[in-house]
Amino acid sequence: MPSVVEVDHLHKRYGDFVAVDDVSFSVEQGEIFGILGPNGAGKTTTVECLQGLRKADAGDLAVLGFDPRHQASHLRRHIGSQLQESALPDRMKVWEALDLFSSLAVGGAPWESVLEQWGLTEKRDAQFGSLSGGQQQRLFVALAVVNSPRLVFLDEMTTGLDPLSRRVTWDLVRQIRDGGSTVVLVTHFMDEAETLCDRIAVINDRRVAAIDTPAGLIERFGGQAEVTFTTDRDDVSFLSAIDEVDSVDREGRRVSIMGSGPVLAKVAAGLVAHGLAPLDLSVKRSTLEDVFLTITGGET
Ligand SMILES: Nc1ncnc2c1ncn2[C@@H]1O[C@H](COP(=O)(O)OP(=O)(O)OP(=O)(O)O)[C@@H](O)[C@H]1O
Ligand SMILES: [Mg+2]
Repeated sequence: MPSVVEVDHLHKRYGDFVAVDDVSFSVEQGEIFGILGPNGAGKTTTVECLQGLRKADAGDLAVLGFDPRHQASHLRRHIGSQLQESALPDRMKVWEALDLFSSLAVGGAPWESVLEQWGLTEKRDAQFGSLSGGQQQRLFVALAVVNSPRLVFLDEMTTGLDPLSRRVTWDLVRQIRDGGSTVVLVTHFMDEAETLCDRIAVINDRRVAAIDTPAGLIERFGGQAEVTFTTDRDDVSFLSAIDEVDSVDREGRRVSIMGSGPVLAKVAAGLVAHGLAPLDLSVKRSTLEDVFLTITGGET
């Protein structure tokens, strides 16, 4: 099956300033594909080039089989888009915005159902300018999905949303995907990326620094895991013989093991085999945030 998005050596300048140097990735049908990266890394520029909103200076792009540089207006009828910087006329009513956006794209369910899904029913007749920041943000995401597009771009969709609204939005994004759509999601929220995304591209300094599943990124860049427990048993030297264990340290009753891969499972099995079942056995692994900081050079 051809990829839904193919980006090959995308390069984009604003005047002399290189905003995207050399970005390549592909997104498969049905994926939630995340793009992470520091401020100014080139994420928004990349997704805007993919949507035909900006013209790439070099590189090959194919989005749903269209070339965004030359077929932008065709392409935009088939995609949903929530932009990082969005605005509507203050006086436009919520229902008018949905009606307008649904008339611009092809296919999909009637916009009334979207209103309900996104918790905007009671704001149906409210003017855009009277909505709270979070309600405006929710409306923008609703507008992006109004016609159940095959491909949806969401650029910082949950910025400004309260914790409950974020969870609701995550569920709705999963629903969009379960309905067969593909989602490209730019975010600064590591929890959002980790729970929602099938794969993540980390863009750093205008290039792709890594692409993998969230678990794969943690495995590759997360370094060692630390397993700890307490015991009265003096001799736990048998743990050093486990392949996944790199070191065993002891301070009083507390044992700390550094290791990699399935070190927790192997240590647990070793302990049980030696008649030990500590209640406080636990593991500390790198989080996606640690990995992000490592990849983007925020931590040495
Ligand atoms: N219209 C523009 N004219 C000139 N420079 C721009 C323009 N838009 C963006 N840039 C610059 O291009 C670089 C990449 O911007 P971009 O908006 O793609 O970053 P981003 O990764 O989306 O960042 P953020 O996380 O802050 O949204 C930045 O240095 C920015 O200042
Ligand atoms: Mg951005």
